[in-house]
Amino acid sequence: MNPDLWSRVDGYIEACLVSHDSTLAAVIAESAAAGLPPIAGSAAQGKLLHLLARLARATRILEVGTLGGYSAIWLARALPPGGRLVTLEVDPRHAAVARRNLARASLETLVQVRTGAALETLAELGREQGAPFDLVFIDADKSNSPSYIEWAERLGHPGTLILLDNVVREGWGLDAASGDAAVRGTRRAYELVDAHPQLAATAIQTVGVKGYDGFLMALVAGGRSES
Ligand code: SAH
Ligand code: DHB
Ligand code: MG
Repeated sequence: MNPDLWSRVDGYIEACLVSHDSTLAAVIAESAAAGLPPIAGSAAQGKLLHLLARLARATRILEVGTLGGYSAIWLARALPPGGRLVTLEVDPRHAAVARRNLARASLETLVQVRTGAALETLAELGREQGAPFDLVFIDADKSNSPSYIEWAERLGHPGTLILLDNVVREGWGLDAASGDAAVRGTRRAYELVDAHPQLAATAIQTVGVKGYDGFLMALVAGGRSES
């Protein structure tokens, strides 16, 4: 384990490959000034979300867990004209900071921040029966991750890409003996994905400025290549 080295390598990767414009820098600064916890993804991770959204040719993106809107900005910047991102946030203070940050990034017309517990706002989206989402990024309260995965599949379509953040947590996030609700939720999410006939999935461990963690990626069966 060498977190200092991981951070320096992330610094190199960002300097070479991930242009962090003044908007994103301001978003991080504003979020910190507003007292939000420093748990947004790194620049390299944000760029990965952006590239995956482009690869998926996503025109409708759903995010669960907005915080200050950092990952939402990376994702929304991948949308083609007419694309839309809906992001769900339980904490009205976080949502207010995110709306400000999205306006700063000139994305307020593309992005809708819905305030409320995600289990409620997801059910609301289900009732509205809008067009399905092409990509769903889940990054909220880990105890509810299994339900969020189920909703993502329900609100998606064959070919939808589902991403679940923080599925490793330095390894302790997977401790089978843990009584922690987040750990149990994460393990149940793996089990649900494994047992789900429509989901093909893997998880990738990551190191960097945000420490040692990982993300899970699941593809809803029957995408373009099969249709
Ligand atoms: N995706 C963000 C980071 C999200 S941090 C980024 O990378 O920039 C997790 C967020 O999920 C926090 O803002 C937290 O308030 C929110 N959250 C926690 N429980 C939630 C719930 N039940 N419904 C919706 N959002 C929730
Ligand atoms: C935490 C939550 C996250 O979504 C993340 O990416 C990192 C940390 C947390 O709750 O500590
Ligand atoms: Mg996260």
